[in-house]
Amino acid sequence: MLPEDALGQVRGWIAAAARIVVLTGAGISAESGVPTFRDAQTGLWAHFRPEDLATEDAFRRDPQRVWDWYAERREALRTVRPNAGHAALARFAARHPGRLTVVTQNVDGLHQAAGSPDVLALHGNLSEDRWLDPCPLAGRGAPGCGAALAEPGRPPRCVQCGNPLRPAVVWFGEMLPERALARAEQAAAACELMLVVGTSGQVWPAAGLVHAARAAGARVVVVNPAPTELDDVAHVVLSGTSVQLLPRLLET
Ligand code: APR
Repeated sequence: MLPEDALGQVRGWIAAAARIVVLTGAGISAESGVPTFRDAQTGLWAHFRPEDLATEDAFRRDPQRVWDWYAERREALRTVRPNAGHAALARFAARHPGRLTVVTQNVDGLHQAAGSPDVLALHGNLSEDRWLDPCPLAGRGAPGCGAALAEPGRPPRCVQCGNPLRPAVVWFGEMLPERALARAEQAAAACELMLVVGTSGQVWPAAGLVHAARAAGARVVVVNPAPTELDDVAHVVLSGTSVQLLPRLLET
């Protein structure tokens, strides 16, 4: 099938679908300048894998290194903006209220910044923090963790009990936010069409949503410049980047 035919076929499916789910991964932010996870780590982090840093054990073992990695990623996010792929999804949702559910593995907040409503962020948000442990003083008449004392290069700690703050993202081995995952599973089971954009499909349970949508009878389309683990679950694979393809697919 020529690319134009495939594009035309998927545009037809989009026009006919009452409920569409878009599952996105790091690739949709690549053209905003945000490195993907499976690209080689660059700079200071070249000799680390995300799997070595994005875990609670790594944070407990060396809070400063993990905190610094996230601080550098946060700093980099200050200068990036949503790209035409994010914008195409937000515009479609504005023109067709209630038809499009964005489920993202990304923690960069770019879908939200582009104006997509009600984004289901399965892996949390890099711009938020939360306490590492329950407060040991809570319930003993003390109000629990409140003010955090920031120290250069170290995670801020609760001034009362020393509890450190940690990024409010889901680390490897941690449970995903229950409500977001449940809503994503419901949307995947009910949609007529799922677009899978910019994810290698290597991380579950996010990747499982694609299998669930297919099993429930949805059409599945992968949008990616390279092969992914989800290509064999797709009815159509569109080889290209999200900026190249999403605006052409969604301008209906
Ligand atoms: N447009 C679309 N896709 C792209 C682009 C682009 N411009 N550039 C790269 N890609 C694709 C790559 O081909 C790859 O398939 O994006 C995908 C990125 O895959 P990963 O780096 O594995 O990122 P992701 O799938 O989001 O990882 C899932 O793993 O590390 C954990 O929690 C982290 O959420 C992350 C999860």
